[in-house]
Amino acid sequence: MKPVSIGIIGGGLMGREIASAFARWCALTEINVVPQLVSVADLNPAALEWFKHIPSCTQRTADYRELLANPAIDVVYVAVPHDQHETLYKDVLLAGKDLLAEKPFGIDLDSARRINAVVEQSGRFVRCSSEMPFFPGAQRAFRYATSGALGRVLEVVSGFHHSSDLDPNKPANWKRWSAQCGEGGALNDLGMHACHIPLRLGWKPHSLFAQLQKGYATRPDGKGGSVACDTWDNAQLHTWTKIQGQDVPMRLEMKRLAPGATNTWFLELRGTEGGVCFSTAEPKTLWQFERGEEQWWKRTELGFGTAFKTVTGGIFEPGFPDVIQQMWAAYLLEREGLLNGRFGCATPQEAVASHEIFAAALLSEKEGRVVAL
Ligand SMILES: NC(=O)c1ccc[n+]([C@@H]2O[C@H](COP(=O)([O-])OP(=O)(O)OC[C@H]3O[C@@H](n4cnc5c(N)ncnc54)[C@H](O)[C@@H]3O)[C@@H](O)[C@H]2O)c1
Repeated sequence: MKPVSIGIIGGGLMGREIASAFARWCALTEINVVPQLVSVADLNPAALEWFKHIPSCTQRTADYRELLANPAIDVVYVAVPHDQHETLYKDVLLAGKDLLAEKPFGIDLDSARRINAVVEQSGRFVRCSSEMPFFPGAQRAFRYATSGALGRVLEVVSGFHHSSDLDPNKPANWKRWSAQCGEGGALNDLGMHACHIPLRLGWKPHSLFAQLQKGYATRPDGKGGSVACDTWDNAQLHTWTKIQGQDVPMRLEMKRLAPGATNTWFLELRGTEGGVCFSTAEPKTLWQFERGEEQWWKRTELGFGTAFKTVTGGIFEPGFPDVIQQMWAAYLLEREGLLNGRFGCATPQEAVASHEIFAAALLSEKEGRVVAL
């Protein structure tokens, strides 16, 4: 087993999730790289306190520069509010470390392009976090799309829905403020998830029309008052993409106001010969279309067919912590040159391309028109 020393900057929701994925790395059976969390940086002392649960994590600091100065660290994972992505990602690269960056890879398109320029100059190994394609059902849908079984593609729908913003009494946090989340709001929050597989398939939109909606204009501030919220909560992007020389309608959806949905990522591909649908709402179920004398939607229970094998029983069902761990397995193996054709993490180029889509969506909303990309 080759150890890889990791530092985490931002020990909040995602920082803790990643730390717990490392802590049960023994679940992976055919992998010769093991991440060791050695350091965490967070401005919040309570966030740092939690990392005392991780024996290997001996450096806990409020100053991320101390983490970057630690010569033992090979890879840094950064999970901080979007307004800080650019500064911190560049600092990680300038410190000579590899990076797994959280989405959206900068607060806006210009920021993403500037980060990418430093990535290219640095020569470091950099990927952007997007774990949902590592669900076995998503992997199967991706392979189905590349197999040609769809025939002529008629329609693509890719999206990510949750309902966290439906409760008007939920206190505001940085994800509801443009200054920290970015003008894109739900686009920045959820867009990489919706764009990752279409972009990997080469299905970048060449034009789009965006419908963006805001939620509650004010929310409790958590201290007895209220505070203005200004980000877009829901986005439906009606796009055209070119697939095998044909224009195909592709709908990209990102919603924080989707009644009943909790972290529901979905992909629906329909063609003249076949079709495939997967949603994390039914995490082990794959739907495939077949056309013969009659037409069938066949339902398969996939079980735990992950790309990177684990001790988990093959009939068990996968979940969010599993795909986070799978994504890290992909990151660490690709970094070693051992991905061997398996699905890799989102690249900086894909992250920039997703921002090109978000920027076009904001322009479309502002001017009420179809925008060419
Ligand atoms: N991949 C996913 O599924 C997923 C899910 C949620 C969030 N995210 C992304 O992860 C990132 C963080 O989101 P979160 O939900 O974990 O946020 P969070 O608010 O829960 O945590 C962010 C942490 O960063 C810390 N922080 C802020 N500035 C810092 C600095 N300069 N130095 C050190 N620490 C600092 C905060 O104190 C906080 O603990 C965002 O980019 C978000 O879009 C990804």
